[in-house]
Amino acid sequence: MIGAKACFRRAPGISKSDERKPQVRGPKLENVPVQSAISDFGSGVSVRPISKFLIIPTLSLLFLLLLPAALCAESGYDAWLRYAPVDDTAAARRYRDAVPSVLVALGEQAPIQSAGSEVVRGIQGMLSRTLRVESRVSGESAVVLATIAQLRQSAPQLAPTGDLETDGFWLRTVRVNGARFIVIAGQNDRGVLYGAFAFLRKVAMGDSIADLDVKENPYSPIRWINHWENLDGSIERGYGGRSIFWENGKAREDLTRVSDYGRMLASLGINGCSINNVNADPRVLSEEFLPQIVRVAEALRPWGVKVVLAVDFGSPRTVGGLTTFDPLDPAVVAYWKNKVDDIYKAVPDLGGFVLKADSEGRVGPSAYGRTHADAANVVARALKPHGGFFFYRGFVYDNRMDWRNPKNDRARAAYDNFKDLDGKFDENVFIQIKNGPIDYQVREPASPLFGTLEKTNQVIELQITQEYLGQARHTVFLVPMWKEVLDFDMRARGNTPTPVKALVAGKTFNRPSGGFIGVSNVGLSDSWFGNHMSQANLFGFGRLAWNPDLSSRQIIDEWTRLTFGDDPKVLETVANIQLTSWRTYENYTGPLGLQTLTDIVGNHYGVAVEASERNGWGQWHRADERGVGMDRSVATGTGFAGQYRSDVARIYESTESTPDDLLLFLHHVPYTYKLRSGKTVIQFLYDSHYEGAEVVVRYVNDWKSLKGRIDDRRYSEVLAQLEYQSGQAIVWRDAVAGWFHKTSGIADARGRVGNHPGRMEAETAELAGYRAVRVTPFEAASGETAVECASGPCTAMFRHEGPAGWYDVTVRYFDVNNGAAKYRVRVGTQLVAEWSGTDLVPTRRIDSASSSRRVIPGLALRPGDQIRIEGTPEGGETAALDYIEIRPAPQTVQ
Ligand code: GCU
Repeated sequence: MIGAKACFRRAPGISKSDERKPQVRGPKLENVPVQSAISDFGSGVSVRPISKFLIIPTLSLLFLLLLPAALCAESGYDAWLRYAPVDDTAAARRYRDAVPSVLVALGEQAPIQSAGSEVVRGIQGMLSRTLRVESRVSGESAVVLATIAQLRQSAPQLAPTGDLETDGFWLRTVRVNGARFIVIAGQNDRGVLYGAFAFLRKVAMGDSIADLDVKENPYSPIRWINHWENLDGSIERGYGGRSIFWENGKAREDLTRVSDYGRMLASLGINGCSINNVNADPRVLSEEFLPQIVRVAEALRPWGVKVVLAVDFGSPRTVGGLTTFDPLDPAVVAYWKNKVDDIYKAVPDLGGFVLKADSEGRVGPSAYGRTHADAANVVARALKPHGGFFFYRGFVYDNRMDWRNPKNDRARAAYDNFKDLDGKFDENVFIQIKNGPIDYQVREPASPLFGTLEKTNQVIELQITQEYLGQARHTVFLVPMWKEVLDFDMRARGNTPTPVKALVAGKTFNRPSGGFIGVSNVGLSDSWFGNHMSQANLFGFGRLAWNPDLSSRQIIDEWTRLTFGDDPKVLETVANIQLTSWRTYENYTGPLGLQTLTDIVGNHYGVAVEASERNGWGQWHRADERGVGMDRSVATGTGFAGQYRSDVARIYESTESTPDDLLLFLHHVPYTYKLRSGKTVIQFLYDSHYEGAEVVVRYVNDWKSLKGRIDDRRYSEVLAQLEYQSGQAIVWRDAVAGWFHKTSGIADARGRVGNHPGRMEAETAELAGYRAVRVTPFEAASGETAVECASGPCTAMFRHEGPAGWYDVTVRYFDVNNGAAKYRVRVGTQLVAEWSGTDLVPTRRIDSASSSRRVIPGLALRPGDQIRIEGTPEGGETAALDYIEIRPAPQTVQ
């Protein structure tokens, strides 16, 4: 029913003309003539003013108009807020009948004005109807947006009798004297905005709006996003381009994207956003910087999103001119008070601060022998008179631990640091706790700290940006993972269920507040994240923060419909990929609680099984020739299991009761240890890696079946991403399985590990100019070796030994980011492929992250045919090769 969007809608680039565009700030409804309201409201970017079309040459315009809707390219910029036309005629008529032609937004507050403009925009997009904007409720049927208090004052006949909680909304159909009103009532101005988005979502989802009576309150008051952006415009762990906030130490000149981002956040009910890295640049608190913060706050304010700052605990000294940052020093107390007062003068609705202290090189109270509570309270007291909150991160640990001491354990750190301080924090302090005790690994148990704090506010920190989960180059839908943690019963209060979601929302121990924080890190890429499918993680975070009882299936169905339309095949295929993607990724990167076996001292992306060992970072898995896993039991290990309440501790204490998925996180076992299925640990490791890699190949084929059902641009971009992922899953599979094979000396019962049909190592080819190099870590290259070309061109010649037939030839090469080597492939003298390295990943090294794949499909080969690869280095890229693989081409064209 919901179709493709009109062809002329497009994402803003960051072209010069866009930079000159004024910021969009949800204009006041009554001052805006209807026609310009359509082009300007809340958008300024996606819907172009009619006059601009006149400059499009007539022929191209005609061409665009003649294109079938489904072929229109979409950039992904509009994400789930596309407002695609309802193209089922009967449904469109029903909606048009149901939506009154007038819109009244009562209240001057910016979020209410934004709500009004959003409804105009949404109805225009979906129903091609432009609502008439009025400033007062009359006897005429209307869509009315207002807070409950406002309704009671100006239109009591439309006011509901019940109440709402902060940020809640109520959608009602009210009939008065023959007129029909759709009332979007909020407890506050943000509630009105959230109600407006919920109303539009109903239309977009095809739900009935005939007789509305929908009341929603958020599960928890804090639903915030953290951004790890540096002031120079780079982003720590951001994979969707540079910062939307900062460039060259200042706020970007054009903050349209920030405003559009605020709109996306508001559509999910997110009400706060920290705008700089938790590894905070002290300059953020300098006087000169304040105007920059003011500008960002102005861009977000119309969307009810409060700005939050990450601060550096050393600021009193680094930018405050004091000789100390001791939290108990009166001069430091005064510094924080004055600083906070100044900021609130300029940004009166600032949400508060977030602090990373005493962790990964950040200074903290330990410098003066003070406690985390001393540190938190001094800043919190400065924020309190302004209603500001202080988020003290629970991510405190020593990254220089002695790895030789088997009792040392980073997973213990949060609990050890905060347990004894429970009750010592002020009421506006929140301990911000990552979902697991280590660091966003592919699987971790819930942090024991959730079940420990009773007299202290807490929030859960989930990472939307996929740092250890494929960095948006892999599709990994995180909602199922988050839900496992949120629903996990910490058994913190006798027999009453105490799931993590209730604990963090403050429900279990009656805390005044609590909630959810998501580390988002969107960037300037058209699709915000660099992968269309990754948008589902921001969407899912927001939906869960609003209502953690939604199921993963509900969330992905909503997202897919809103993002790609309601074609049942699209819905089913996307749901299937997204819902299985976490398990799939886990299967090929680190199952059984091993954690992501990535390069933890490097880019956290490629595989490097031992990178976590023999260093102080404490992400150890302790795999050696006899066994694998970290013994965290109380009886023989680090004692971590004992940090949980007794019911949970008992389960985690023994190998028998620990779920298989977490076995190696909690226990060290021999490779021959039998899992519940009867399979040995080592065979499971082999099988899961092969299965994971196979499933990604299925994703590619499933996605191909959607051709023509999704606009071409997003179709092709997701296809390219999944194809890349399927190549990368093979690198992971071979590296991890190969590493455990070599280390354990135990064969794969199914004979696959180390045995690759059709594969020919580059080092065994006939080489001219190329020379063989050992790769580190060894598992990053097939046969532990690659070939490199110092100056070119160089050639590697392979001979086809199989029978005559059609073959796919895969070339595995290394694409580093400091050059663009050229590759040419010839069969005999015929050129069959050429390309150059495109710098997909952030590495200069020949390793698993730079390992890339080129598939040359459907080549006719005869026995003895020569396949010659010519590599020409460029810059730092040495046209390095790993292997080629010659496999029979599939019978059917995919
Ligand atoms: C991870 C991440 C860091 C980040 C840290 C944090 O360790 O790799 O980049 O600074 O988390 O959450 O503070």
